[in-house]
Amino acid sequence: MMARNNNSEVLLKVENLTKHFPVQKNIFEQMSFNKGRFELKSQVVHAVNGVTLEIKKGDTLALVGESGCGKSTLAKCIIGLHQPTSGKIFYGDQEIGNLTGRKRRPFQKRIQMIFQDPFSSLNPRKKVEDIVGRPMLLHGIAQKENLKKAVLDIMDRVGLDSTYASRYPHQFSGGQRQRIGIARALGCKPELVIGDEPISALDVSIQAQILNLLMDLQESMDLTYLFVSHDLSVVKHISSRVAVMYLGYIVELADTEDIFAKPNHPYTQLLFSAIPTLDTLDFVEAAGLAEGEVPTPINLPSGCPFHPRCVHKMPICSEKRPELREITPGRFSACHLNGKKQ
Ligand SMILES: Nc1ncnc2c1ncn2[C@@H]1O[C@H](COP(=O)(O)OP(=O)(O)OP(=O)(O)O)[C@@H](O)[C@H]1O
Ligand SMILES: [Mg+2]
Repeated sequence: MMARNNNSEVLLKVENLTKHFPVQKNIFEQMSFNKGRFELKSQVVHAVNGVTLEIKKGDTLALVGESGCGKSTLAKCIIGLHQPTSGKIFYGDQEIGNLTGRKRRPFQKRIQMIFQDPFSSLNPRKKVEDIVGRPMLLHGIAQKENLKKAVLDIMDRVGLDSTYASRYPHQFSGGQRQRIGIARALGCKPELVIGDEPISALDVSIQAQILNLLMDLQESMDLTYLFVSHDLSVVKHISSRVAVMYLGYIVELADTEDIFAKPNHPYTQLLFSAIPTLDTLDFVEAAGLAEGEVPTPINLPSGCPFHPRCVHKMPICSEKRPELREITPGRFSACHLNGKKQ
């Protein structure tokens, strides 16, 4: 496991970030009848709710939480695929949350994403050299004259043979396709790489190879990672910090070693207790809930988002949402059990 570097600069800072989506429903479902009158229900999906976090240069921050808790939405806001509803995203000193077009360009180069599905994320009609080469041209990493060499160079770094350059994605296995996705992302010489479950679609036998590659590249290319994952055994080995998300809120954020040794938040405790992967159904079963009882990001519970499932809940928990507070140096948790006045 990588040690956390306390001294290094903050590369990315997310401040009070919120992303809500309108619920897609037909007109009848949007109406409610109340005291003899029709009302329009304005329902939203509260995908990300006031998230604050930072990632230091060289760190690997793992983002964990069960399906639908907002991990991908947060990642997409950072990469610029979603406009935040409110809140700020700073890259270094620059606020990037609402940048578009030309102004966004330099940050598209510096922040790259590796997607979950290496089958749908690569254009089937393009050769590998074009898939990998296009962003290099776009961001001025290479010119037409030296593009081929630059493409072969990055292909070599991710373990793809140069003879593959003129092949198409369908001619590759899942693991090799993910290497192409990694080459495409890293060809731009990014600083921050966001992996949204980059290994979960791969055969287990291939997952370790890709993880090792990502760790080697982090070292050799001086990369900072935001790593979205369902797999806590992977998180334990590759990340230096862990952020735990529940219903769009960060409920705990701490060094990997600390959070695995002594999870603070009751949700983290449940998550880390027995279940190696966060499959929702296993999880619901483990929490002793029927599936219908699981709160949704459409109807957020009052107070602490986790209180309906929490074994330690107190009266205050359904009334007041606990803020994410630093409870020991470097460790943040959002739970009334941490005692101090909110
Ligand atoms: N474009 C969208 N429009 C409407 N709702 C959306 C959109 N994208 C995500 N959502 C909703 O926002 C919530 C969070 O979704 P998100 O994909 O961020 O979760 P996740 O943590 O990445 O889940 P998973 O582990 O399954 O990938 C979900 O309720 C989802 O249905
Ligand atoms: Mg997701």
